[in-house]
Amino acid sequence: MPKDWDWTSEARNAQRYETDLVPTLFAPWAPQVADAAQIRAGDRVLDVGCGTGVLARLALARAGTQGAVTGVDVNEGMLAVAQRAEPSIEWAKGDAMALPFAGASFDAVVSQFALMFISDPTTAVSEMRRVLAPGGRLALAVWGPFEMATGYAALAEPLKRYGGQSAVDVLTAPHVLGDVEKLRFIFTSAGFEQPAVTMCMGGYTQPSIAKLLEFEVKNTPLKERFTDESYAEFAAEAETALQPFLLPNGEVSIPLAAAIVTAQNAG
Ligand SMILES: C[S@@+](CC[C@H](N)C(=O)[O-])C[C@H]1O[C@@H](n2cnc3c(N)ncnc32)[C@H](O)[C@@H]1O
Repeated sequence: MPKDWDWTSEARNAQRYETDLVPTLFAPWAPQVADAAQIRAGDRVLDVGCGTGVLARLALARAGTQGAVTGVDVNEGMLAVAQRAEPSIEWAKGDAMALPFAGASFDAVVSQFALMFISDPTTAVSEMRRVLAPGGRLALAVWGPFEMATGYAALAEPLKRYGGQSAVDVLTAPHVLGDVEKLRFIFTSAGFEQPAVTMCMGGYTQPSIAKLLEFEVKNTPLKERFTDESYAEFAAEAETALQPFLLPNGEVSIPLAAAIVTAQNAG
């Protein structure tokens, strides 16, 4: 797993993820993924790599009281926050590559921004297909190409200077599946016929450049590559590099693309 989410297993970090990252970075995509999966009243829905559960909560709102929603993740810190936020969803600890559910037990499987952190994406997608009922729908989002995330691309140079190439690799890792052909190959290898991939544009806004750097570097394992002094120098350079993404009110907004894959289990 190139960028590891272990740091969010600590309760404080998982809560910070939910409070400060989910509303701006992850929540805006949930309606598009839920729409793509055509979730309707009464559906049994599984959210894979659910994190703190933003997509699962939306799925529950759509599936309603006659439906049932399950979220699965390897990370207990994330699941604890999810449980507090919505106790009526079943939150399960489990690995996407060996889903702890019987075959054909869901009408829809959804997942956002998790597949690229899973070491064998094809096995994970095969598992998603296994647990889908015949005719069941899958919708899954991953980040698009790094080059389309121009604000992150602007950070790459200062990050390389102070943190080395491996620090840049951490920044680019979430984008490794942002390739239409690669995604089609994974989904067809996993047994889905004719998966559809759509590239969509969105964005990510933080209250300030300092806050953005906190979430991308300072409060993540990347910080270990810096001394206090080198971090201050990096932050000053990053501030300059991110000027084109500053809004008049001081917020910083980075364009981001996401690929949304839809597929159906032919049965
Ligand atoms: C960027 S977060 C996205 C979480 C959530 N879907 C959201 O939109 O906020 C990626 C999630 O994938 C989970 N994850 C990584 N590898 C996993 C695996 N092998 N099985 C299940 N979940 C995994 C992480 O623990 C983390 O919660």
